[in-house]
Amino acid sequence: MTVKKEARLRGRFKEEIDSSVLSYVASLPFDWRLYKYDIEGSIAHAEMLAHQKIISPVEFRKIKDGLLAILKEIETVRFPFKTELQDIHMNIEGRLFEIIGDTAGKLHTARSRNDQVALDIRLFARASAMQSVKALQQLNAALVGIAGKNINVIMPGYTHLQQAQPVLFAHHMLAYFQMFSRDIERYYDCLVRINVLPLGSGALAGVPYPVDREFVAVKLGFDDVSENSIDAVSDRDFIIEFEAVASITMMHLSRLAEELIIWSTREFGFIEMGDAYSTSSSIMPQKKNPDVAELARGKSGRVYGHLLGMLAVMKGLPLAYNSDLQEDKEGFFDTIDTLLSSLQVMSGLVGSLKINPSRMKSAMNSYILATDVADYLVKKGLSFREAHGVVSRLVSYAAEANKELDELDLKEYKKFSPLFGQDVRNISLQKSIEARMSYGGTASQQVKKSLERAKGIVRSYETK
Ligand code: ARG
Repeated sequence: MTVKKEARLRGRFKEEIDSSVLSYVASLPFDWRLYKYDIEGSIAHAEMLAHQKIISPVEFRKIKDGLLAILKEIETVRFPFKTELQDIHMNIEGRLFEIIGDTAGKLHTARSRNDQVALDIRLFARASAMQSVKALQQLNAALVGIAGKNINVIMPGYTHLQQAQPVLFAHHMLAYFQMFSRDIERYYDCLVRINVLPLGSGALAGVPYPVDREFVAVKLGFDDVSENSIDAVSDRDFIIEFEAVASITMMHLSRLAEELIIWSTREFGFIEMGDAYSTSSSIMPQKKNPDVAELARGKSGRVYGHLLGMLAVMKGLPLAYNSDLQEDKEGFFDTIDTLLSSLQVMSGLVGSLKINPSRMKSAMNSYILATDVADYLVKKGLSFREAHGVVSRLVSYAAEANKELDELDLKEYKKFSPLFGQDVRNISLQKSIEARMSYGGTASQQVKKSLERAKGIVRSYETK
């Protein structure tokens, strides 16, 4: 079956395009999302053409008014999308012909769809990076909030998911604040390479008109103009970079999700998730499922997938543009959608958490203070390695006797080292915390200072 379609691009063909081919090559079902950027870019381009006297001021006005009318049509869901026009660019141009007549044909002067689509996707990527930063800032505000509200709560710190040393719960939460702060930097960092104007590269070789690319760059808020036309239309490394940054963010989010899932089990009972952020089981009435966290963890997989997918799309492409590049969009759009929704619900989830300090405390036994006992012996003159040996024998003795360290009497201690004295009784969870006052450590003083710095950073988000 063939389709009667716009003849504009098919002048040299004798046959109409086959309908199966049309639906195969059409990107409209997904690239319609670029409409705003396409129109914004076209207006800036037309203005430059007028400024350079390549088109007349009257023609520019007609084109601009037509494009603004189209913008309104799309936003009020009145735009007649036509799949046979393949993509959003041809749809908008086609509609411009219908609205303003033949002047529409001047818009594509000194432009190709290749630099046009590169422009649109860069504008989209720029907006997405800013949205991601905002969403991360919200999450960080939630983390700082929960850390601040529970500043004195002690929990077991883990290595290998085995209890290691006590830490402040706030310290643990602020660890995530650091990860997400670095993610924010990463979006700003890739913005430097996203925010470069490709328009003016033409199909691949540049354009034979006296264009002013700087003019367009300023209009559209680009910091730079691409240096090489072949590169500008053919690379999508900025999308790959964005997807890599998004993958790192999702990895951090997934770790947080995993911890919240573990902590909300009956076995741990460290936290309870808010009802609004939990789901129930269709069969087991007692259950409160951590779906939000599970899905944030699960969705990290699809974002990694998009990164790998795009790397694979690009790896064998000769310069310059190839239609394979059209495959950049769905994965990219899904990356943004997944990232933003995950950040948003996880911020809400963190804000909804109820902390259970007594469960965190009762989950620990005295063995978590074994390092402190070793440090005690070091202060009495033993080398750390020797002290480590002494305490490891002491702990295994206590474990065999089924006793806590503070249930052993001094005589038993002394069997392992004559250096033990009455003051070994002073070792406590709180003392263990306060002893770790190295910069970045878990001592209350350090964590409070760190929290203040974090609060300052969160306050500065509003001004950015
Ligand atoms: N829909 C195309 C894309 O997403 C637009 C560019 C088409 N260019 C071309 N030479 N066929 O990449």
